[in-house]
Amino acid sequence: MCGIFGVVTNHDQPLGSILVEAGRRLAYRGYDSIGCATISGNGQIDLRKDAGKIDEVNERWQLGEMRGRRGIVQLRWATFGAPSQANAQPHLDSDGDLVGAHNGNIVNHVSLREAFVEQGMTVRSTNDGESCVHAVERYVNTGLDLVDSIRRAYDDLQGDYAFVIGHQSSPTLHAIKKGSGLVVGIADKMTCVSSDLPSILPLTNQILRVCDGEIATLWSDRVELRRVSDGALIEREPETFTQGMEAAVKSGYAHFMLKEIHEQPQVAAELIHWLAASPHVEPFLEAMTSARRLYLVGCGTSYHACLVGAAYLNRLAKLAAVPVLAPQFRETLAHTLTPEDTVVFVSQSGETKDVLNALNATRPSGARILGVLNVLGSTLMQASQHYLPLACGYEISVPATKTYLNQVVLFLYLADRLSGRRIDWQAVPQLIQQTVDQTDSQARQVALLLNSFREFYFLGYGETLGVAMEGALKLKEITYLHCEGMLSAEFKHGPLSAVFDGYPVLFVNAPQDAAMMVNHVNEVTCRGGRAIAVAVEDELLRKNVNDYLLLPTTSPELTALLAVLPLQLISYYMSVARGIDPDFPRNLSKTLTVD
Ligand code: G6P
Repeated sequence: MCGIFGVVTNHDQPLGSILVEAGRRLAYRGYDSIGCATISGNGQIDLRKDAGKIDEVNERWQLGEMRGRRGIVQLRWATFGAPSQANAQPHLDSDGDLVGAHNGNIVNHVSLREAFVEQGMTVRSTNDGESCVHAVERYVNTGLDLVDSIRRAYDDLQGDYAFVIGHQSSPTLHAIKKGSGLVVGIADKMTCVSSDLPSILPLTNQILRVCDGEIATLWSDRVELRRVSDGALIEREPETFTQGMEAAVKSGYAHFMLKEIHEQPQVAAELIHWLAASPHVEPFLEAMTSARRLYLVGCGTSYHACLVGAAYLNRLAKLAAVPVLAPQFRETLAHTLTPEDTVVFVSQSGETKDVLNALNATRPSGARILGVLNVLGSTLMQASQHYLPLACGYEISVPATKTYLNQVVLFLYLADRLSGRRIDWQAVPQLIQQTVDQTDSQARQVALLLNSFREFYFLGYGETLGVAMEGALKLKEITYLHCEGMLSAEFKHGPLSAVFDGYPVLFVNAPQDAAMMVNHVNEVTCRGGRAIAVAVEDELLRKNVNDYLLLPTTSPELTALLAVLPLQLISYYMSVARGIDPDFPRNLSKTLTVD
């Protein structure tokens, strides 16, 4: 998830401060690179960009001093191409007539880039945003006008994205939307376009929403919307945005955690597109399947994704992968590694010290090092022979939600691909959406029930063990209560003694485990405990539990993927009811770079 902003005025003027301010307001969307381009009335393009945070790049390149009549700023959160000056956006076309920047993922950018090079165009980066500019350039080169060239480019660029582009010799900017956010603002003698409202609101509260499949053309005093499919004009009145800035930054959600929970269908869709098109998946799989021993290593939430991933690889792909906590890996396994082994390090940040310690302990053995990470350019990425990105954009809330979900999507995708592909991946984002919608009110009820206790158990089995542990961790992180996630089969070996009349125990069940899980449920209920199931419809299970949090019925493999969603919601609602800010829980940090 990156951020784009463009502004159109009617005369040359200092635009740098507007661009830098807009960039600061988009910084929550991405922050590893930033770039600004201005186009002056005589068509001169000034492009300044670099890797780094906005204030660092501003200081290095004096972005604030840039002048022009039109301007574009882009904040990048790297998914394709490491953070670098060349990969920073905006990008120029071959001759430097066009300048543009995008937000989102162009999943076919590798094949497009080959085609552009073959057609004699100058490609300067490995970033997918550059494909947008060249995709337009090649139609401009055939004599089409800019709007029609963009319309044609839209059909060539696969994925979910929005982009803004300008030509040196026209007074306009053009923006297109296909799956990523895009809004237009109309001010006095000035118009602007952005991925999100926070960068627009300081300039105007007159907002024009752009829908997928539409092109907005911005002049300084008017905006035209057209349909991509047939070029027809669209009549739409601007609306007046009356809410404050904070509501705009959080897209109307009360907390970033809730916003990020609701972003999960979108980020999963982007990752699924990416995985389907990426040439990086095969070498990653090869390094996993050819390994003598295969380990999945992480901490906290990422470790829980390793647990689910190992269960998927075992059951679907018949591949033995051992999930290990990073500090334990260093102490109990690292000294036994050989060059024939493969270690997959899983980390949202790619900077967790415990993970890097385990990585450093792995290096001397010559074992292959793979990475699964959200932050491109991180230490883990640089140390990995092959890596796969989580493509989630910036996760602000301390409790991980969308990055966990995409870690599980990624492992399930790999397991499914190794087993010969059975899952209907196109349907998965919609199922995630359906699960969030369907379980929201049930999660509120369970939250109300649990909030009258101070401690609980969340139990899982097989694929759902990691889910139960992740649900318990979320609850601990943001309610300050005690919740233990563990194997349902282990509960009888000790913890069962905690059960008293009404004591709540939550069971996360995958369809194939229902018969086994009913035994574990009964061990609790026959002692007066209150069993809450999180499961797809199962007659036997329903008869044996007290409460049933119903998941959508789908292929059995997807239950463990979907089951985390109501658990995230339960902990969120419990946290808010306790007056805690779930985004910034006490004592915790998003990235722990200490031992
Ligand atoms: C910290 C965070 C957790 C996170 C863990 C691992 O403890 O508070 O939410 O799961 O680090 O982080 P990583 O970036 O390696 O996934």
